[in-house]
Amino acid sequence: MITLGVNIDHIATIREARKTYEPDPIWAAAIAELAGADCITIHLREDRRHIQDRDLELLKKTVQTKLNLEMANYPDIISSACSIKPHQATIVPERRSEVTTEGGIDVAKNLKSLTQTIAQLKEAGITTSLFIEPDKIQISAAAQTKTDFIELHTGKYANTQNESEAKKELDRLFSASSYAHSLNLRVNAGHGLTMKNVIPLCAMPYLEELNIGHHIISRAVFIGLRQAVIEMKQLLEKYS
Ligand code: PXP
Repeated sequence: MITLGVNIDHIATIREARKTYEPDPIWAAAIAELAGADCITIHLREDRRHIQDRDLELLKKTVQTKLNLEMANYPDIISSACSIKPHQATIVPERRSEVTTEGGIDVAKNLKSLTQTIAQLKEAGITTSLFIEPDKIQISAAAQTKTDFIELHTGKYANTQNESEAKKELDRLFSASSYAHSLNLRVNAGHGLTMKNVIPLCAMPYLEELNIGHHIISRAVFIGLRQAVIEMKQLLEKYS
Protein backbone atom coordinates (compact mmCIF):
# COMPACT_ATOMS: atom_id res chain seq x y z
CA MET A 1 0.00 0.00 0.00
CA ILE A 2 1.35 3.42 -0.96
CA THR A 3 1.32 5.73 2.05
CA LEU A 4 0.34 9.40 2.06
CA GLY A 5 2.51 12.25 3.27
CA VAL A 6 0.53 15.48 3.51
CA ASN A 7 2.52 18.66 2.99
CA ILE A 8 0.98 21.38 5.18
CA ASP A 9 3.25 24.30 4.15
CA HIS A 10 0.35 26.20 2.60
CA ILE A 11 -1.53 26.34 5.90
CA ALA A 12 1.46 28.34 7.12
CA THR A 13 1.47 30.33 3.86
CA ILE A 14 -2.03 31.61 4.73
CA ARG A 15 -0.96 32.43 8.28
CA GLU A 16 2.14 34.30 7.07
CA ALA A 17 0.01 36.36 4.66
CA ARG A 18 -1.15 38.19 7.80
CA LYS A 19 1.82 37.43 10.06
CA THR A 20 -0.65 36.21 12.63
CA TYR A 21 -1.29 33.01 14.59
CA GLU A 22 -3.97 31.42 12.35
CA PRO A 23 -4.46 29.06 10.65
CA ASP A 24 -2.08 26.97 12.74
CA PRO A 25 -0.20 24.17 10.94
CA ILE A 26 -0.21 22.24 14.23
CA TRP A 27 -4.00 21.96 14.00
CA ALA A 28 -3.72 21.03 10.33
CA ALA A 29 -1.29 18.21 11.11
CA ALA A 30 -3.64 16.77 13.75
CA ILE A 31 -6.65 16.93 11.39
CA ALA A 32 -4.64 15.36 8.54
CA GLU A 33 -3.50 12.54 10.82
CA LEU A 34 -7.04 11.92 12.10
CA ALA A 35 -8.16 11.72 8.45
CA GLY A 36 -5.59 9.04 7.67
CA ALA A 37 -2.35 10.82 6.67
CA ASP A 38 0.63 8.54 7.23
CA CYS A 39 3.15 11.34 7.41
CA ILE A 40 3.23 15.12 7.86
CA THR A 41 5.65 16.94 5.59
CA ILE A 42 6.93 20.50 6.07
CA HIS A 43 9.62 22.56 4.37
CA LEU A 44 11.58 24.90 6.63
CA ARG A 45 12.84 27.32 4.00
CA GLU A 46 15.83 29.57 4.55
CA ASP A 47 13.58 32.63 4.00
CA ARG A 48 10.94 31.22 6.42
CA ARG A 49 8.21 32.15 3.95
CA HIS A 50 5.74 29.68 5.44
CA ILE A 51 6.86 27.13 8.06
CA GLN A 52 8.63 28.71 11.06
CA ASP A 53 11.11 27.22 13.55
CA ARG A 54 8.32 27.17 16.15
CA ASP A 55 6.24 24.94 13.85
CA LEU A 56 9.07 22.43 13.47
CA GLU A 57 9.63 22.31 17.23
CA LEU A 58 5.93 21.85 18.07
CA LEU A 59 5.25 19.39 15.25
CA LYS A 60 8.10 17.19 16.45
CA LYS A 61 6.31 17.03 19.80
CA THR A 62 2.76 16.60 18.48
CA VAL A 63 2.88 14.58 15.24
CA GLN A 64 1.93 11.01 16.01
CA THR A 65 2.64 9.41 12.63
CA LYS A 66 5.91 10.60 11.10
CA LEU A 67 7.36 14.06 10.57
CA ASN A 68 9.24 14.57 7.30
CA LEU A 69 11.30 17.76 7.13
CA GLU A 70 12.16 19.06 3.67
CA MET A 71 15.35 21.07 3.96
CA ALA A 72 18.16 22.59 1.95
CA ASN A 73 21.73 21.43 2.40
CA TYR A 74 22.63 24.48 4.53
CA PRO A 75 24.60 24.30 7.80
CA ASP A 76 22.08 26.15 10.03
CA ILE A 77 19.14 24.04 8.80
CA ILE A 78 21.17 20.84 9.19
CA SER A 79 21.97 21.77 12.77
CA SER A 80 18.27 22.55 13.50
CA ALA A 81 17.36 19.16 12.05
CA CYS A 82 20.01 17.36 14.09
CA SER A 83 18.84 18.98 17.32
CA ILE A 84 15.07 18.63 16.77
CA LYS A 85 15.34 15.22 15.08
CA PRO A 86 12.32 14.87 12.78
CA HIS A 87 11.73 11.24 11.81
CA GLN A 88 12.85 11.90 8.27
CA ALA A 89 14.75 14.65 6.45
CA THR A 90 14.36 15.14 2.70
CA ILE A 91 17.09 17.26 1.18
CA VAL A 92 15.82 19.55 -1.55
CA PRO A 93 17.40 22.29 -3.66
CA GLU A 94 16.33 25.78 -2.66
CA ARG A 95 16.37 29.09 -4.48
CA ARG A 96 14.88 32.21 -2.92
CA SER A 97 13.32 33.36 -6.17
CA GLU A 98 11.40 30.14 -6.86
CA VAL A 99 7.72 29.81 -5.94
CA THR A 100 8.14 26.12 -5.23
CA THR A 101 10.91 23.48 -5.44
CA GLU A 102 11.45 23.54 -9.18
CA GLY A 103 13.74 20.60 -9.78
CA GLY A 104 15.62 17.85 -8.01
CA ILE A 105 18.89 18.39 -6.19
CA ASP A 106 22.06 17.81 -8.24
CA VAL A 107 23.54 14.98 -6.18
CA ALA A 108 26.26 14.17 -8.70
CA LYS A 109 27.59 17.73 -8.54
CA ASN A 110 27.36 18.00 -4.73
CA LEU A 111 28.32 14.42 -3.90
CA LYS A 112 30.90 15.14 -1.20
CA SER A 113 28.83 17.66 0.71
CA LEU A 114 25.63 15.61 0.47
CA THR A 115 27.42 12.45 1.59
CA GLN A 116 28.62 14.32 4.68
CA THR A 117 25.14 15.73 5.38
CA ILE A 118 23.50 12.31 5.00
CA ALA A 119 26.04 10.83 7.45
CA GLN A 120 25.42 13.67 9.92
CA LEU A 121 21.64 13.26 9.76
CA LYS A 122 21.84 9.49 10.09
CA GLU A 123 24.13 9.82 13.08
CA ALA A 124 21.40 11.94 14.70
CA GLY A 125 18.99 9.04 14.12
CA ILE A 126 17.12 10.67 11.24
CA THR A 127 15.97 8.70 8.18
CA THR A 128 17.25 10.43 5.05
CA SER A 129 15.88 11.12 1.59
CA LEU A 130 17.13 13.06 -1.44
CA PHE A 131 14.65 14.80 -3.74
CA ILE A 132 15.93 14.08 -7.26
CA GLU A 133 14.94 13.95 -10.90
CA PRO A 134 14.21 10.47 -12.33
CA ASP A 135 17.67 10.31 -13.86
CA LYS A 136 20.18 7.42 -13.71
CA ILE A 137 23.20 9.64 -13.00
CA GLN A 138 21.43 11.26 -10.05
CA ILE A 139 20.16 7.91 -8.73
CA SER A 140 23.64 6.35 -8.89
CA ALA A 141 25.06 9.37 -7.06
CA ALA A 142 22.27 9.15 -4.45
CA ALA A 143 23.21 5.51 -3.80
CA GLN A 144 26.80 6.60 -3.18
CA THR A 145 25.67 9.01 -0.42
CA LYS A 146 24.17 6.04 1.48
CA THR A 147 20.81 7.79 1.81
CA ASP A 148 17.91 5.58 2.93
CA PHE A 149 15.40 6.97 0.42
CA ILE A 150 15.16 9.02 -2.71
CA GLU A 151 12.06 11.05 -3.54
CA LEU A 152 11.48 11.18 -7.28
CA HIS A 153 10.39 14.61 -8.54
CA THR A 154 7.09 14.12 -10.37
CA GLY A 155 6.81 17.75 -11.50
CA LYS A 156 7.64 17.08 -15.18
CA TYR A 157 5.02 14.31 -15.27
CA ALA A 158 2.47 16.57 -13.55
CA ASN A 159 3.09 19.35 -16.09
CA THR A 160 2.60 17.21 -19.20
CA GLN A 161 -0.10 18.43 -21.57
CA ASN A 162 -1.21 15.25 -23.32
CA GLU A 163 -1.36 11.49 -22.91
CA SER A 164 1.74 10.60 -24.92
CA GLU A 165 3.91 13.09 -22.98
CA ALA A 166 2.47 11.77 -19.73
CA LYS A 167 3.21 8.18 -20.76
CA LYS A 168 6.81 9.11 -21.57
CA GLU A 169 7.32 10.76 -18.17
CA LEU A 170 5.62 7.87 -16.37
CA ASP A 171 7.95 5.39 -18.10
CA ARG A 172 10.90 7.52 -17.00
CA LEU A 173 9.65 7.48 -13.39
CA PHE A 174 8.93 3.74 -13.42
CA SER A 175 12.35 2.79 -14.75
CA ALA A 176 14.03 5.24 -12.36
CA SER A 177 12.26 3.56 -9.46
CA SER A 178 13.32 0.06 -10.59
CA TYR A 179 16.89 1.26 -11.06
CA ALA A 180 16.89 2.84 -7.57
CA HIS A 181 15.55 -0.38 -6.08
CA SER A 182 18.35 -2.35 -7.77
CA LEU A 183 20.80 -0.09 -5.89
CA ASN A 184 19.04 -0.77 -2.56
CA LEU A 185 17.44 2.66 -2.40
CA ARG A 186 13.89 3.02 -1.09
CA VAL A 187 11.60 5.18 -3.20
CA ASN A 188 9.13 7.99 -2.46
CA ALA A 189 7.76 10.50 -4.97
CA GLY A 190 5.95 13.80 -5.13
CA HIS A 191 5.30 17.27 -6.53
CA GLY A 192 2.36 18.57 -8.52
CA LEU A 193 0.17 15.54 -7.84
CA THR A 194 -3.61 15.70 -8.03
CA MET A 195 -6.60 13.35 -7.63
CA LYS A 196 -6.38 12.81 -11.40
CA ASN A 197 -2.69 12.42 -12.21
CA VAL A 198 -1.93 10.35 -9.10
CA ILE A 199 -3.91 7.34 -10.37
CA PRO A 200 -1.46 6.11 -13.08
CA LEU A 201 1.45 6.87 -10.75
CA CYS A 202 0.12 4.35 -8.21
CA ALA A 203 1.36 1.58 -10.55
CA MET A 204 4.97 2.68 -10.04
CA PRO A 205 7.09 -0.26 -8.86
CA TYR A 206 8.63 -0.05 -5.37
CA LEU A 207 6.88 3.23 -4.56
CA GLU A 208 6.43 3.58 -0.78
CA GLU A 209 5.12 7.09 -0.13
CA LEU A 210 3.71 10.07 -2.01
CA ASN A 211 4.06 13.60 -0.67
CA ILE A 212 1.18 15.81 -1.72
CA GLY A 213 0.60 19.41 -0.67
CA HIS A 214 -0.80 22.09 -2.95
CA HIS A 215 -3.71 20.08 -4.36
CA ILE A 216 -4.88 18.74 -0.99
CA ILE A 217 -4.76 22.19 0.64
CA SER A 218 -6.51 23.73 -2.40
CA ARG A 219 -9.36 21.21 -2.14
CA ALA A 220 -9.42 21.74 1.63
CA VAL A 221 -10.42 25.38 1.08
CA PHE A 222 -13.69 24.14 -0.41
CA ILE A 223 -14.40 20.76 1.18
CA GLY A 224 -12.38 20.88 4.40
CA LEU A 225 -8.97 19.40 5.18
CA ARG A 226 -10.37 16.24 6.72
CA GLN A 227 -12.40 15.38 3.63
CA ALA A 228 -9.57 16.30 1.23
CA VAL A 229 -7.17 13.94 3.02
CA ILE A 230 -9.77 11.16 3.29
CA GLU A 231 -10.47 11.31 -0.46
CA MET A 232 -6.78 11.24 -1.46
CA LYS A 233 -6.11 8.39 0.95
CA GLN A 234 -9.08 6.42 -0.48
CA LEU A 235 -7.65 6.89 -3.97
CA LEU A 236 -4.25 5.53 -2.93
CA GLU A 237 -5.94 2.60 -1.23
CA LYS A 238 -7.96 1.83 -4.34
CA TYR A 239 -5.17 2.08 -6.91
CA SER A 240 -2.04 0.87 -5.11
N1 PXP B 1 7.91 16.74 -2.28
C1 PXP B 1 8.83 17.73 -2.18
C2 PXP B 1 10.25 17.34 -1.94
C3 PXP B 1 8.46 19.09 -2.26
O1 PXP B 1 9.40 20.05 -2.18
C4 PXP B 1 7.10 19.41 -2.41
C5 PXP B 1 6.67 20.84 -2.44
O2 PXP B 1 6.97 21.44 -1.23
C6 PXP B 1 6.17 18.35 -2.50
C7 PXP B 1 6.60 17.02 -2.45
C8 PXP B 1 4.70 18.60 -2.63
O3 PXP B 1 4.43 19.22 -3.85
P1 PXP B 1 2.99 19.79 -4.13
O4 PXP B 1 2.76 20.90 -3.14
O5 PXP B 1 3.07 20.27 -5.55
O6 PXP B 1 2.02 18.67 -3.92
